[in-house]
Amino acid sequence: MGRTGFGDLEHGAIPTFYAAPPAPRTAPVGTPERPIPLIIDSDPGLDDALAIGLAVARPEIELLAVTTVGGNADVRHCTDNALRLLHAFGRSDIPVAEGAQGPLTGEVVRATAIHGEGGLGRTELPPSPATACPEGAVALMARLLEESPAPVAIAPIGPLTNIALFIRLHPDLLARISHLSIMGGSIGEGNTTTSAEFNVYADPEAADIVFRSGIPITMMGLDVTHQATLDAAAATRLRDLGTASGVIAAELVDFAIERVWQWYGGTTTAIHDAVAVAHLAIDDLVTVASYNVRVDTSAGPARGRTVCEGLGRRMTRYGLQPNAEVGIRIDPGRFEGLLVDAFGRLP
Ligand code: BDR
Ligand code: CA
Repeated sequence: MGRTGFGDLEHGAIPTFYAAPPAPRTAPVGTPERPIPLIIDSDPGLDDALAIGLAVARPEIELLAVTTVGGNADVRHCTDNALRLLHAFGRSDIPVAEGAQGPLTGEVVRATAIHGEGGLGRTELPPSPATACPEGAVALMARLLEESPAPVAIAPIGPLTNIALFIRLHPDLLARISHLSIMGGSIGEGNTTTSAEFNVYADPEAADIVFRSGIPITMMGLDVTHQATLDAAAATRLRDLGTASGVIAAELVDFAIERVWQWYGGTTTAIHDAVAVAHLAIDDLVTVASYNVRVDTSAGPARGRTVCEGLGRRMTRYGLQPNAEVGIRIDPGRFEGLLVDAFGRLP
């Protein structure tokens, strides 16, 4: 049996990177008595949809808003999807606001080959009675941060364009953000290019601004989200819940598995974005380690790579400070159970 950097991982991957030792999390976590106020910044998106459902369902989270960003699909589709998803999950009262259509600079990158042209595969949801807030994503975030009695966590689960714009426009409000639980990046390989994961590749300059911002960050990269998978049997569990939301989740998972099969010949799909949300609800679900994360913004083949340094000796030598906790391990069975339980709580 080969030795991996993670010792007891069973998925067979052999990390080609230095796996920093697990460290205690510093990210805040909600409880049913004191739910964590959360804004999800998202490009729904198959896995985004499950992440939003999880946030709505968990009593440890008070979902204040969903802001949208162009990513998996055109931002107009993403906004409409966010509205329809919240409506389907019984929470059309949660505000939605539209953000950036494309990256701060450079070409627009989409993931419609995986998520479908409209972002939600073949799933067609009834329209919501609600409409998007005219103030837009960044202004809504600012207002909610000003109004909230407690600091607010943000889960950016799409390209980081809106968050970077927020940092530039509202530096005075950054202290009101308790934590960024980001889905993006990778210690090891990417998924869009060999170097880069989709959310970072879609706007590397924005990601660079975010990782340099000094805001407390947890990065849920592919190293951990590729352990957080569902298969056809999990889709059946979701469908058999007997809830309309369970059927929606099952359809989205089935579509994702179909696309993964076509692209990579795999039979499971990673529910990347739900890991970033779950971390804010469940204290001990994800193991994290301390890293210095820098983003490659060059025009070369490493564009969008998150360069993650976890080796103390090298950090000292090059004067680097840890700026993120990075997810390294999750219990896949527990993760699946969490999602099935969540969609059983929704209408
Ligand atoms: C990320 O890219 C998107 O396609 C998913 O929604 C997720 O946020 C995974 O690389
Ligand atoms: Ca996403």
